[in-house]
Amino acid sequence: MHYGTLFLTMCGIVGYTGKQQAKPILLEGLKRLEYRGYDSAGLALSSPSPTIQNFVIQRNAGPVQGLIDASTKIGLSETTGIAHTRWATHGVPNETNAHPHRAGNIVLVHNGIIENYAQIKEKLQHIGVQFSSQTDTEVFAQLIEFHRVQILKSDTTLNEEDAVLRALKKAMSEVDGHYAILFMALTIPGKLFGVQNGAPLVASKLKDGCLIASDIQAIIPYHNEVCFLPKGEILIVDENHFETRNLKTDKVSVPKIERMDWTADKVEKNGFETFMLKEIFQQPLVVADTLSGRLPSDESGAFIWDHFKAHEVLWKNAKRLYLVACGTSYHAAMTAKYFFEKWARIDCQVDIASEFRYRHPVFETGTVVGVISQSGETADTLAALALANQAGVSTFSICNVPSSTISRESGFHYPTMAGPEIGVASTKAFTAQLTILCALALDVGRLRGNDDLASFQALARLPHDIDRILKQSETFIQIGAKLKDQKIILFVGRGTMYPIALEGALKMKELTYIPSEGFAAGELKHGPIAYIDPNVTIVTLAPRDECYAKTISNLEEIRARGGHIVAIGTEGDEEIKKISHEFIGLPASAWGTMPILSVIPLQLLAYGCAKALGRNIDKPRNLAKSVTVE
Ligand code: M6R
Repeated sequence: MHYGTLFLTMCGIVGYTGKQQAKPILLEGLKRLEYRGYDSAGLALSSPSPTIQNFVIQRNAGPVQGLIDASTKIGLSETTGIAHTRWATHGVPNETNAHPHRAGNIVLVHNGIIENYAQIKEKLQHIGVQFSSQTDTEVFAQLIEFHRVQILKSDTTLNEEDAVLRALKKAMSEVDGHYAILFMALTIPGKLFGVQNGAPLVASKLKDGCLIASDIQAIIPYHNEVCFLPKGEILIVDENHFETRNLKTDKVSVPKIERMDWTADKVEKNGFETFMLKEIFQQPLVVADTLSGRLPSDESGAFIWDHFKAHEVLWKNAKRLYLVACGTSYHAAMTAKYFFEKWARIDCQVDIASEFRYRHPVFETGTVVGVISQSGETADTLAALALANQAGVSTFSICNVPSSTISRESGFHYPTMAGPEIGVASTKAFTAQLTILCALALDVGRLRGNDDLASFQALARLPHDIDRILKQSETFIQIGAKLKDQKIILFVGRGTMYPIALEGALKMKELTYIPSEGFAAGELKHGPIAYIDPNVTIVTLAPRDECYAKTISNLEEIRARGGHIVAIGTEGDEEIKKISHEFIGLPASAWGTMPILSVIPLQLLAYGCAKALGRNIDKPRNLAKSVTVE
């Protein structure tokens, strides 16, 4: 059976049409979406006057700032435009492959992948269509334009808009893939057209026009009422109109508006030098928000979940749990395996989403699949969710974006309340995921007759404890800076500290580009110990938990080989302080909450090291925030 292939690019789209000058709005929007991709950028602007002379296009290789610098002299009066920031998939990131792409009358930006682009391109080339780029995007633009010309030739009574809409429908019926596109037709000034097939497109009606984007972060500074364009509808907007038209029935509708509680200040740096640092410091609040209204309010000890009955049924019948995710979210899943197995006594398997669908997982009565994702749009995770949904087993998501595809397509949704996370390296979303997973597993444990009062009490104290850790942030940043000349950095831990070690290594490698590896401390002697010499740093997680004595033995093994040890343990632990070169003491907490506290210094170590190396902390090279390609 084919479960659908999710191939999306991670680009950012913005469009505006209205009374204001479009360029500043588009550029501001691109800046906010740059985390989605930053290898080239472009915009196209036009005026509501039916002459093609009133059209200008500018594209640049490199980040959005290059486009801003290159476009100072253009677009001073144009009030309609589309813009794009790219994460290259088809074609190198140069000016020619940057969006928008123009094909005759059609100027288009695109987020996604056209899977059968090569076949369509070949057909079009065969009949004389000339291409200027290597992208799949241009194929879509050329196809719409090709059909528009044919349709107008065969029915000269048709007006331009009807011809464009028919051409769009025809093109969509030929194109395979998952995408969102936004385009203008130069002969229909002032109008923008958008469709989505698996990649989000959000629109908002402003007082003096309309704003469209691939992500609400470009819209929120202007308005908090948005419409998530559904599949199967064409968005058609101009200064006064804001409507959708059904692709099959042609029925025109007023888009369904949703009010967002994300505000503009949530997507600003608010005085912090980077978004990542701001997000690290937001963690006490984020954890408090994630727990808010969930902690038990009566003697029963039951956590409070939306749709409580459905939640209870789901977990009462659960026999086997698969937790599936990618990257940092996968590390949250790995940590949660320890929670669910200890407290809930449910057999829990954890999978990297890109592997899950190819390993023929066993689905049977009582199987529950939980997917974890910050963005809610990660292609591999979505594919895993689709597989589970098709198999008919119960699904749930732990997700930070309630309007995302993953939140909407999972049977049950446990929201994290981290707010928009802009830094490409995930921090606050991870602590929010661990918080909700800890609460959930504790609660399922309670349902099955197992309580862990210490972890429950420590959960309620978490915001306070994280706050205390953050007071030492400068020290952690300085220790991190000292690691800048390391050739390799190792992270080790046992039990719940093993996935946290993996997360520490991921933060370090993605921010600093220094090879960094995480291991289960007990595995060191089975190979990785060969790395150890006096020039190698080993960050060791050793809280006073059930694995403490064993981890100390591993530390001794490292010390005997001259390794440079940075130890993260419990405040006042003199034993570990003596055998390490640097010691970071964390507040004593419980088994379930210690992983959440332990990741905070690791985030700051990576931050300090990346800062000392002069890295682009919010936008590390080659990465993008929302990984929507398989
Ligand atoms: O949005 P998701 O949580 O599904 O994203 C998963 C990973 O792409 C993400 O966690 C990635 O590993 C981060 N860059 C890590 O900092």
